[in-house]
Amino acid sequence: MMVRALGASDARAAVTVISTAAKWYAEFLTPSEVHEPEMTLESWVEEARRMTWYGAFDGVDLVGVMGLEYAGNAALFRHAYVLPDRQRQGIAAMLHNHLERQVVGVDKIIVGTYAANYKARAALEKAGYQPSPDPEAVLRHYYDIPKDRLQSSVTYEKHVDSDR
Ligand SMILES: CC(C)(COP(=O)(O)OP(=O)(O)OC[C@H]1O[C@@H](n2cnc3c(N)ncnc32)[C@H](O)[C@@H]1OP(=O)(O)O)[C@@H](O)C(=O)NCCC(=O)NCCS
Repeated sequence: MMVRALGASDARAAVTVISTAAKWYAEFLTPSEVHEPEMTLESWVEEARRMTWYGAFDGVDLVGVMGLEYAGNAALFRHAYVLPDRQRQGIAAMLHNHLERQVVGVDKIIVGTYAANYKARAALEKAGYQPSPDPEAVLRHYYDIPKDRLQSSVTYEKHVDSDR
């Protein structure tokens, strides 16, 4: 298993991982809140203009993705998705470790997720992230998210040494 930054030639495989893993949102979102597919090829490419996508590979197979974006004094880890049949094998933890080593020049890492997303919340807590005391303020400051998502989302933070 290895992690590397993704490029345009990985777009199709990445979108497949994201849309497959995102199917579980239907278990806690209302039908009108579910996007099918979660991400199009065009929006993956658009996202790549402002953040760096990373992927975990088993041989040549992409099994998980995560994005790193800088926003002010923070790094945001976004779009964490691991193929369902590869979950619970430490792949998200491996991606977290890899992305944390890439982060430079900011004093914290922020990750947002749905409040009901217990899998992501447990993974973040295990990786040493603390729930933000005021997630709505964090979401308003660092994220460009629709108003209806402010109530249904939470954020987690981890402080890093900004001198790195
Ligand atoms: C959230 C997600 C990325 C975690 O990926 P993963 O590779 O399975 O995570 P890991 O194997 O590294 O697990 C790390 C820890 O997270 C927690 N965790 C992960 N999946 C869990 C689950 N289904 N139930 C409870 N805890 C879970 C556990 O504490 C786990 O450690 P453990 O297996 O030693 O107990 C994955 O579940 C996923 O892709 N979910 C669908 C998409 C999604 O919700 N993305 C989050 C967007 S912010």
